[in-house]
Amino acid sequence: MNNMKVDDLNHLVIGGVSAVEIAKKYGTPVNVYDLTLIKEKIKTFKNAFSKYENLTQVAYASKAFSSLALFEVLAEEDVSLDVVSGGELYLALKAGFEKSRIHFHGNNKSYEELKTAISEQIGCIVVDNFYEIVMIEKLVNELNVTIDILLRVTPGVEAHTHEYITTGQADSKFGFDLASGQVDQAIKQIKEIENINMIGLHSHIGSQIFEVEGYEIVIEKLLQKASEWKKMYDFNLKVLNVGGGFGIKYTDDDSPLPLDKYAKAIIRSVRTHSAANNLNLPEIWIEPGRSIVGEAGTTLYTVGTQKDIPQIRKYVSVDGGMADNIRPALYQAKYSGVLANKVVDLNEEVVSIAGKACESGDMLMWDVVLPQPKPGDILAMFSTGAYGYAMASNYNRLTKPAVVFIENGNDFLAIRRETVEDYLKLENSIKNWE
Ligand code: LLP
Repeated sequence: MNNMKVDDLNHLVIGGVSAVEIAKKYGTPVNVYDLTLIKEKIKTFKNAFSKYENLTQVAYASKAFSSLALFEVLAEEDVSLDVVSGGELYLALKAGFEKSRIHFHGNNKSYEELKTAISEQIGCIVVDNFYEIVMIEKLVNELNVTIDILLRVTPGVEAHTHEYITTGQADSKFGFDLASGQVDQAIKQIKEIENINMIGLHSHIGSQIFEVEGYEIVIEKLLQKASEWKKMYDFNLKVLNVGGGFGIKYTDDDSPLPLDKYAKAIIRSVRTHSAANNLNLPEIWIEPGRSIVGEAGTTLYTVGTQKDIPQIRKYVSVDGGMADNIRPALYQAKYSGVLANKVVDLNEEVVSIAGKACESGDMLMWDVVLPQPKPGDILAMFSTGAYGYAMASNYNRLTKPAVVFIENGNDFLAIRRETVEDYLKLENSIKNWE
C-alpha cells in the first residue's frame, strides 16, 4: 500500500511501532489498529460537514468493529454511535458513551433490547418495521417516557457493490418499502402516538461504495417525498440520515473517493433538493463503519507450512484464516499484504495464502507477489480493520486473536487473545448432569 512505512531493518512499521515487535510481544494472529488513522478519518468527515449550515452527526457503525476501548476512544472524539444489538448497546453503555448520541438499528430488535434502549433514554431508535412500532408504543406508555425515532426507508436504490451486502433495493429485509406505500402508512400510524417523536428518515444503500450517485438519488427521492409528507401528514423532517457505505482501499485495484468528496456531494445534494422542495435544511447524519476503521487495521500472521504444486500454485499457510477473517471466503474479498520482517526484497514469487481451517475455501489471498515466504515469517495483511474481528468465529475451535491499539509509538492490548480455557467458561461437563 502506498503509505506503508518501513524501518532500517526492513520491517513494517505501524503507528511508529515495528510490526515484528508487536508479533513477538502479543503472538499471532493479532489485529493491530493505528488509532491515529481512525482519528484522522473521523476528522475528515467532521471537517467536511462543518461547512454545512445545520447540525450534522457522524455516527460510527459499530458493527464494523466494536470494543470497550474503541468506544472509549470514540466517546472522546465527539462522534455518535450506531448500535445494532443489545450486545453493542451494552458495550457502549459500559464504555460510558453519551447515551443521547447512541442510535439503535436492526430489523428484529427484541422487546427486551428496545426496553433497555428506551429506559436508558438513548438518542434515537431507527425503526425498521410495523411490529417495532407496536412494541415501542407499549414501552413508552409503560415507562411513561418519550423517544425520538427515525424511520428506516428502503428507497429502491441499488448501490453498485457486492450482491450480498446491498441493502437499499426494494427486495430487502430492512426498512419500510417506499414504493408500496409502507412509509406513508408508518408515518400516519406514528403520528397518532403521543410519546413517539418522529424526527426524520434513514436510508442505507449498501457498503464499499465508490461513487456518490447512489446517495444523490436517495437524497433527491427522500426530500421530494418529505415535502409531500409535510403537506399530507404535517411531517417535519428534522434529520436526514443517509447511512454509511463509503468505500476503502483493500488493494491497488480499489479507487474509493477521498472521504470529504462523499460528504461534499451529500451536502450539495441536500441543499439543492431542500431548496427545490421548499424544505428547511435538515440535519445530516451519516453512519460510516468500514471507512473509519477498515484501513486502520492490519492483521499479522505467522507463516507455517507450504505446498508447491508444480505449474499450478504454491500454497503458503498462516496461523489464522477464515475464523478471524471470513471476508475472502464469504465475499471473495481481495486484500493486499507484505512480509513484515522483509518488506522490500527482490526475490519475489507468486503465492496464495491459505488459512489453517479444515475447509478448501479457507483462503486469505490468491496469487499475491511476496518475497519467498518461509516458516516463521510474519505476514501483514492490510485493511482488515472492518468486519474482520467483528465477524470472527471459533470455527475449528480456533481462538479469537488479540487486538492491539497503537498510537504515537505506544501499544496497548485492547482485547486479549482468547484461550482454549475460555471455552470452559461456557461449557459444562456431562459428569455434572445428575
Ligand atoms: N448503517 C447501516 C444501516 C448499515 O447496515 C451498515 C452496514 C452501515 C451503516 C455501515 O456500513 P459501512 O460504512 O461499514 O459500509 N460484512 C460486510 C458489510 C456489511 C455491512 C452491513 N451494514 C463486509 O464485510 O463487507
